[in-house]
Amino acid sequence: MTDTVSDPLTAESVAGAAYIVAALLFILSLAGLSRHEKARAGVIYGISGMVVALAATIWLTLQNAWGSSQVLTGLILLVAAVLVGAAIGLWRARVVQMTGMPELIALLHSFVGLAAVLVGWNGHLESPELPDALKAIHHAEVFIGVFIGAVTFTGSIVAYLKLSARMKSSPLMLPGKNAINLGALVVFVVLTVWYVNDSQLWLLIVVTILALGLGWHLVASIGGGDMPVVVSMLNSYSGWAAAAAGFLLNNDLLIITGALVGSSGAYLSYIMCKAMNRSFISVIAGGFGIAAPASKGDTDQGEHREITAEATAEMLANASSVVITPGYGMAVAQAQYPVAELAHQLREKGVNVRFGIHPVAGRLPGHMNVLLAEAKVPYDIVMEMDEINDDLGETSVVLVIGANDTVNPAAAEDPGSPIAGMPVLKVWEAENVVVFKRSMAAGYAGVQNPLFFRDNSQMLFGDAKQRVEDILRAF
Ligand code: TAP
Repeated sequence: MTDTVSDPLTAESVAGAAYIVAALLFILSLAGLSRHEKARAGVIYGISGMVVALAATIWLTLQNAWGSSQVLTGLILLVAAVLVGAAIGLWRARVVQMTGMPELIALLHSFVGLAAVLVGWNGHLESPELPDALKAIHHAEVFIGVFIGAVTFTGSIVAYLKLSARMKSSPLMLPGKNAINLGALVVFVVLTVWYVNDSQLWLLIVVTILALGLGWHLVASIGGGDMPVVVSMLNSYSGWAAAAAGFLLNNDLLIITGALVGSSGAYLSYIMCKAMNRSFISVIAGGFGIAAPASKGDTDQGEHREITAEATAEMLANASSVVITPGYGMAVAQAQYPVAELAHQLREKGVNVRFGIHPVAGRLPGHMNVLLAEAKVPYDIVMEMDEINDDLGETSVVLVIGANDTVNPAAAEDPGSPIAGMPVLKVWEAENVVVFKRSMAAGYAGVQNPLFFRDNSQMLFGDAKQRVEDILRAF
């Protein structure tokens, strides 16, 4: 190490320059990820930004500690933490199934929340010597950081439990749930003012417990169908939690990155709320203003009809237009390859084939688009819900492959349904509908689907991949 570099001022300015490069790479990454043609480049920018950020932070930490007796211990702890974290991260990322991604993301958000809580607690226990004016700011940073972090932590754990079906997806409807949420916020504001003036440990303990409970309640109160918005909202909260930690650690890059994640997550939540006809304020306030659903649609719907793969093949061979609406079941069955082959063969026979994609089909934004792109379905026959909905009335056959909530007429026709008002693919308007699923079970939102009992609908039971392969064989 040269003398110039070991000068802390120089070390900080070099790290500062590296942080600006990393921040620019993160912005390029977000820009790239917003369009699928550039998504791969976006990921590479993101990885490069993270490498620069990590290297600069480790280097700066070592420079600042150089010469002190604890540098070796610090170095060992740092390397051990990075190695253990990287090994677990690589392992999980390699083994996770596409269908398990949302749970993994929710769990990762909980780590950001927990980190912000720990940084905040550390900020209290290792409070630096500061002039009075700065002390108040430091206390506010500690308190707000711990609050946002703890809400994110338990909220993300509930989201993880709901997404992995370890907890029921229906909303928790405690009496006076809005008053509980509002009350918790008021108590938080009062405690913040108190702590800023008198930073007592018990206040920090109380706010941590309060925020853990609030995070749990906020997400538990939101119903299954609205979970996509909750995941992106928690993504946003985790960004703000990271930014709060950045203020405490005096780390500009963490502040910038946290703000990027926080604002892009908030914007994504807003777009998803618009797509699902939900109020943004209502969802971020834990289902504020949403009454308990009047019905679950489990009234007697009548009889359903079944169809065989051979009869479906015949129906398809006589069709002039076919629309395929995939959902979560296609991802579970990994049916995208035979589905792509089916579309290809039908197109060769002169049938007009298109795909209709609901904005929240599957368990991730863009889930179906990724699977269809993987199976090399041409982009120009993959339509968004709004592009295809008006054409469904003139379609000979709609194949609903493992979709349920996203094609449920109750959303459009039953105002008491938990998914009332959510825009859906109006597949029931087509001449014939064939639904591929394994049973009569409800979809993610736990709502029965009247589509299955319509006169023009028939059920093709079984694993979606096997049934589509049966149709291909029958051709
Ligand atoms: P869902 O409503 O989740 O229904 C999927 C259907 O697939 C199930 O009814 C299931 O019925 C069937 N299925 C499962 N495995 C199958 C297999 N191997 N073969 C054939 N069928 C199979 O699907 P959707 O229409 O895509 O709706 C998505 C839901 O998830 C919405 O409620 C949405 O709000 C929620 N959600 C979405 C996201 C995002 S961002 N996309 C994130 C979180 C939650 P059987 O069990 O009878 O087979």
